Amino acid sequence: MLATLKQLKSVRTLTLLTALGFLSPVFADNTQEPDLNQLEQEAKTITMAFGKELKTVLQGTIMASGPVEAIKVCRTSAPAIANRLAQEKGWDVARTSHKVRNANNAPDAWEQKVLAEWQDKISRGAPVQNMKASEIVTENGVTVYRFMSAIPTGQMCLNCHGSSIAGPVRNTIHDLYPDDQATGFKEGELRGAFSLQKTF
Ligand code: HEC
Repeated sequence: MLATLKQLKSVRTLTLLTALGFLSPVFADNTQEPDLNQLEQEAKTITMAFGKELKTVLQGTIMASGPVEAIKVCRTSAPAIANRLAQEKGWDVARTSHKVRNANNAPDAWEQKVLAEWQDKISRGAPVQNMKASEIVTENGVTVYRFMSAIPTGQMCLNCHGSSIAGPVRNTIHDLYPDDQATGFKEGELRGAFSLQKTF
């Protein structure tokens, strides 16, 4: 009885939608167009969750165990949080930079283009905070929505990305990342970006 009622209800909804023209071929085409506002909103929400979680874990570990121990947070927790969010949300979530510590985070062509545009804008006085970029691109025949959000260098970041990094921290980072480029940053400078993508 319940199933019959449900079926009846969905048939009626379908009829109503068809009558209103929602299921006509024109609308069917339109509804396949990605909704850019919604995608951007989703991307922003994931980015904020990622940033907040990372900062909390990082700050907590530095306070409790010091920056050498916190290196592990950046090394293992950052990709782990990104992977978890990616699985939960169906997005690809990563961090990148114009000066990377880990070569796995090196920017691809689209990310390089955005980072170069941002650096140009910043050099002409634009604030790093709230810098964003988004675009629908076709990569190898696949349609991808791409989103990037700038990460400014905070004071806490200087422990490991600044100009005068404490000896033990510097040594551990150097051992793990002999080709590290991610030092010498000043507070407020562009450190890198969160980079998200969703494939259609
Ligand atoms: C305790 C040391 C430490 C602190 C503090 C720290 N980082 Fe990092 N950061 C690292 C390490 C180690 C990596 C490399 C992670 C990896 O292997 O993916 C990294 C990588 C990054 C990356 C990815 C790009 C790259 O260079 O490989 C970004 C972006 C970044 N850090 C931003 C920040 C920001 C912003 C802060 C401050 C809020 C910060 N970090 C604080 C150690 C640190």
